[in-house]
Amino acid sequence: MATPDTFDIGGELTVNRLGFGAMRLCGEGIIGPPDDEANAHEVLQRAVDLGVDFIDTADSYGPGVSERLIGEALDPEDAVVATKAGLLRNRSGEWLPHGDPDYIRNQVLCSLDRLRTDSIDLYQFHRPDPDTPFADSVNTFAELQDDGLVDHVGLSNVSVEQLDEARELVDVATVQNRYNFAHRDDEDVLQACEDYDVGFIPWYPIGAGDLGEKGEVLDSVAANHDASRMQIGLAWLLQHSPVTLPIPGTSSVEHLEENVAARDIELTDEEMRRLGA
Ligand SMILES: NC(=O)c1ccc[n+]([C@@H]2O[C@H](COP(=O)([O-])OP(=O)(O)OC[C@H]3O[C@@H](n4cnc5c(N)ncnc54)[C@H](OP(=O)(O)O)[C@@H]3O)[C@@H](O)[C@H]2O)c1
Repeated sequence: MATPDTFDIGGELTVNRLGFGAMRLCGEGIIGPPDDEANAHEVLQRAVDLGVDFIDTADSYGPGVSERLIGEALDPEDAVVATKAGLLRNRSGEWLPHGDPDYIRNQVLCSLDRLRTDSIDLYQFHRPDPDTPFADSVNTFAELQDDGLVDHVGLSNVSVEQLDEARELVDVATVQNRYNFAHRDDEDVLQACEDYDVGFIPWYPIGAGDLGEKGEVLDSVAANHDASRMQIGLAWLLQHSPVTLPIPGTSSVEHLEENVAARDIELTDEEMRRLGA
């Protein structure tokens, strides 16, 4: 079967499957602004010029910085923007789960303002919070959708059981979990997404520029395509399942162009077998 170029989020919001992750546009440690904000704007604009129309961010990136940069650089109609809430940054930069309904309701207003939009295209619950019943957090996302502040609801960092529980409460459009060629622990979650026709957004899709553990086989396939290891890792994600929406992140136009070019690579059946299908 030919690899589809697009995916319909929530059955209606069509995006090109290779997206962009905007976390790395922030300053060091994903805290504060980058040294060169004009460069961050340029990366976002170049992504859209290259046909990327799905951009992932979160309130906690910066905090606020990644969303602000997107709001400044792009018009809401340039791309589907997926943001998240549910993680709080503390003074040492740790990411603390915070799924309290009042907090989420506060955060959506901040995100709408920074993204300069009236409704969030895809609003994802960043990570289940052990101190808040999962259903309470998910119901808040459902209410925000009912209120018209959010078009589609997604989850992140969840198990199949949590996905099933959430699907009883709200239409789950996407799941975003850590997954890449070298780390396939959440294959069961990807499989469930495929069964439900839910988009699966693999975060860390190129292992932050290091797919080293499985580098040898990637390099041997890359040589056939005059491509880089990262590009083969991305092409594999796109061909491995029709519901994946990889969001490689970068702060460099050069890496962006390299990553986006991966969507034109067609791996043969034999290469997919060598890569572990
Ligand atoms: N839901 C969650 O819990 C969660 C957690 C983490 C991330 N995310 C999302 O997932 C997105 C991607 O994750 P990620 O940024 O952690 O991992 P990633 O996309 O696998 O890797 C990004 C890193 O790789 C480098 N890179 C990018 N392209 C490259 C290339 N062609 N060659 C060599 N190095 C390259 C980048 O550095 P340069 O800037 O130097 O290019 C950057 O440091 C994030 O932007 C964010 O939106 C979600």
